[in-house]
Amino acid sequence: MTTAIIGVGQIGGALARDLVRGDEAVVLASRHAETATTLAQELGPLARATSVEDAITSSDVVVFAVPLDAIKELISKDAELLADKVIVDPSNPIGVDENGRPARTVPDDQSAGTVVASLLPAGAHYVKAFGTLAADSLAGAANRAPSRAVLFYATDDDDAAAPVEGLIRAAGFDPLKAGGVADTVRIEVPGGDLHQNGGLSGRLLDLDEARQAAARPRAA
Ligand SMILES: NC(=O)c1ccc[n+]([C@@H]2O[C@H](COP(=O)([O-])OP(=O)(O)OC[C@H]3O[C@@H](n4cnc5c(N)ncnc54)[C@H](OP(=O)(O)O)[C@@H]3O)[C@@H](O)[C@H]2O)c1
Repeated sequence: MTTAIIGVGQIGGALARDLVRGDEAVVLASRHAETATTLAQELGPLARATSVEDAITSSDVVVFAVPLDAIKELISKDAELLADKVIVDPSNPIGVDENGRPARTVPDDQSAGTVVASLLPAGAHYVKAFGTLAADSLAGAANRAPSRAVLFYATDDDDAAAPVEGLIRAAGFDPLKAGGVADTVRIEVPGGDLHQNGGLSGRLLDLDEARQAAARPRAA
């Protein structure tokens, strides 16, 4: 299985390092080609850098590690390339309000997950994953001992769950499904009760703790 990582900033860079450490092949692409090229050279033979379109075409799984607005643009531009791919969305609908305070960028009855899933072409397999920790935790807590930290994911698509669970394990975490697309709001910030920087107040959970947290009804 080959994984395209589009965007090699904080999340994309950390994920690429985690996956290569777990023996996964990655194809890297970004807006500025040199960023992806530099990282691919650092990561060695399991990584290569290319254009966004070639990265999508040559991979089974596509991780859009870019801001939500860029995900919308890329889906609109490359829609015909995305059918049959597993699309991994780590985005958080977070911006700043007129007073410079963090604010949601989607209406309260939506999530970044519901927005992205609704834009995908028929045949694409949507999963929300790899966005439930801060980037420094995604980098630093991989292969945590004695118990691995959990990465929650959410999907309605059984075909997306197995590959994403495999990637989460390869990256050095334990996977736990938080629900379907309608539940993506639980694993996004602002507001998600299962997000490290939301209701978990900075904590990382092991599998037992994560199961208990996921089973608790979300506060309205
Ligand atoms: N940072 C966190 O702690 C964190 C935690 C959870 C989830 N997230 C989510 O993860 C996603 C990435 O966040 P980040 O913090 O990694 O952002 P970042 O550090 O700013 O990196 C964004 C990357 O996306 C690339 N990019 C932007 N627009 C693009 C486009 N149109 N086409 C191709 N590449 C494009 C940028 O390329 P250039 O550098 O070449 O411009 C950069 O490599 C966001 O959706 C964010 O909400 C972030």
